[in-house]
Amino acid sequence: IFESVELAPRDPILGLNEQYNTDTRSEKVNLGVGVYYDDNGRVPLLKAVREAEKARIEQAAPRAYLPIDGLAPYNKGAQTLLLGQNNELAVSGRALTVQTLGGTGALKIGADFLRHVQPNAKVVISNPSWANHRGIFERAGFQVDQYPYYNPETHGFDFDGMLAALKALPKGTIVVLHACCHNPTGVDPSTEQWKQIAETVKETGLVPFLDIAYQGFGDGLEDDASVVRLFASLDISVLISSSFSKSFSLYGERVGALTLLCASKDESARVLSQLKIVIRTNYSNPPTHGGTVVSTVLNTPELYQLWVEELSGMRNRIRDMRTQLVQKLKDHGVTQNFDFVLAQRGMFSYSGLTKEQVEALRADHGVYAVGSGRICVAALNSGNIDHVAKSIAKVL
Ligand code: LMR
Repeated sequence: IFESVELAPRDPILGLNEQYNTDTRSEKVNLGVGVYYDDNGRVPLLKAVREAEKARIEQAAPRAYLPIDGLAPYNKGAQTLLLGQNNELAVSGRALTVQTLGGTGALKIGADFLRHVQPNAKVVISNPSWANHRGIFERAGFQVDQYPYYNPETHGFDFDGMLAALKALPKGTIVVLHACCHNPTGVDPSTEQWKQIAETVKETGLVPFLDIAYQGFGDGLEDDASVVRLFASLDISVLISSSFSKSFSLYGERVGALTLLCASKDESARVLSQLKIVIRTNYSNPPTHGGTVVSTVLNTPELYQLWVEELSGMRNRIRDMRTQLVQKLKDHGVTQNFDFVLAQRGMFSYSGLTKEQVEALRADHGVYAVGSGRICVAALNSGNIDHVAKSIAKVL
């Protein structure tokens, strides 16, 4: 039965890692996948995480099954980060959160749930969007279309295009929105634009699915949650996928959460019962380690404080790399204006490099970027930035 199985293409993002790992050049740089590296080029193990892990090992806690929806204090902590302390939706039991396998897992559980309750709805994602958004919703059985988002001429946001497209969508359409640090462009709407987007979503009767995988990498944990809180104030059904992969530097632990905002406590209980079926029939229940570590940090004031500081350290280093990259491109004789890189937020920069230039970067200089021209600024460091700037200057 496997005879006719076709060879699938590599994943556009994770497939680059496979290629990078087999590259023997010593000057190679991986600006493909969205991972934060420290200035020594290593994925950091945060101090707050180390403390929580030490405590866990000392406790020698048994590894029984977690509940289907995960650890209760983890879910509470994840929800509070999104909605803030004592949010009315949380207090009244209208918000519910389940632990998921990363942000991807949250999207998949949400997509499968939506397909069950709204089988005829269409899904729209931004143009461009994270490559896996389309795959997740298509594999869940949805037709996926795009709404305008990025204007390559201005390197900015196509607000009018997006708003007009949203207004023209049929009621009930599921609209995937990046709540902060848009992936892949790094271009976010302004606060005023978000207000109009939120109003349009409500007036048109759309179902917002907010994806927030980079909370803390824009302006800080609280500021980056403002879009989630704006949608939470609308009194409509909202889905939110969130992730601690990046903010806790716990990529391999698959720590994410799916939060749904419902109309009543009773509705929330019914929704949760359905989500539990989706989880149970996919992977039964989530793993213990990463969730316990994150939960310990979120619920221990000293560790929480330490984590907030470490997270701002990561955010500031990325900003610094943006500034240095723009300067070094000038130093290497690039005359094109790259100042837009400074205005982009989060880990990524949509560099404007063409597919051919990206290919030349890889083939001739060992610098790996996503085919769309997305580069991970969080992978630049004082040791590789010069090589990267020089290589970009050459392929330009
Ligand atoms: C990315 O966009 O590079 C990250 O979100 C990692 C992934 O899973 O694609």
